[in-house]
Amino acid sequence: MGGAALTAHEGAACGKVILLGEHAVVWGVPALAAGISLGATAIVEPADSAVSSLEIEGASSELPPQEAAAIQIALEALSTACGVTCPVRARVTLAIPVRAGLGSSAAIAVALARALFGRAGTTPSHEMLIDAASAWERVFHGNPSGIDVAAAVLGGVIHFERARGARSIPLSCPLSICIGLSGRRPSTRAMVDQVAQFASRKGGMGEQIFAEIRELVSAAEQALATGDLRALGKLMDMNHALLSSLSVSTDDLDGMCTAARRAGALGAKLTGAGGGGCVIALAPGCEQAVLEAWQGLGFPGLHATIA
Ligand code: PMV
Repeated sequence: MGGAALTAHEGAACGKVILLGEHAVVWGVPALAAGISLGATAIVEPADSAVSSLEIEGASSELPPQEAAAIQIALEALSTACGVTCPVRARVTLAIPVRAGLGSSAAIAVALARALFGRAGTTPSHEMLIDAASAWERVFHGNPSGIDVAAAVLGGVIHFERARGARSIPLSCPLSICIGLSGRRPSTRAMVDQVAQFASRKGGMGEQIFAEIRELVSAAEQALATGDLRALGKLMDMNHALLSSLSVSTDDLDGMCTAARRAGALGAKLTGAGGGGCVIALAPGCEQAVLEAWQGLGFPGLHATIA
């Protein structure tokens, strides 16, 4: 056995927020997402048993038993995709909450993929990482758009389209974002299914909302290119209103968005699948006021700079 086989390999990946376009992205509309500095780190070592194992620090105690079984299946799929055939002992440390819409699952998958490719002696391209991590994501999310994985691999701000994949967007100035945590939420799959039911029940209304979100995303990309944060904030507000009409917001999320705007944020919206989870507020210069407003409502928050 060579030295490399005995060595521990490490990987890291960022969590994400969706700036605009969640849900519509599942239906072919482009979305804008951003990697945040908090995420996952992974260490992979040879296993001393015949079966691979994964411990997730910071989250595992909160995971229901059926999720533990899915994790085992996902780990096997990911290992195979990375070219690792021997059992491994994997440990992940997670710095973001699970099931909050911050891309924890993709961050875990990409951090593990980086470590597993290292173990296989391969230097992966972005495409290889995205393909491998998607094998993990499919176990949990069925048919995800892939935006979480793309953001976890690329970081920064990305333009993502299901059919075309991701491209990085250069920013004319860094974005100061507050993230408010409303609590756990239903699975992404459940929320995506809920939107599909809404779209089928309401005839053309789903289509119309997705078309409006497409317009907002396109305008937001312009606003990012010119550094027009006021315009970006307004577009985020409008996106939140459209997500509310898709029935994926909640009273808590609406209340947090209103509180953030009153505290001076340029715009606020739910981020991710909704039904709980997180909101984001574009809050340059009023980060503390926004976080305190949320605290006053009983919700913790984080601050992230996106550059
Ligand atoms: O799992 P979340 O909360 O990060 O949301 C993913 C974004 C969706 O558009 C709702 C689903 C998807 O696959 O893109």
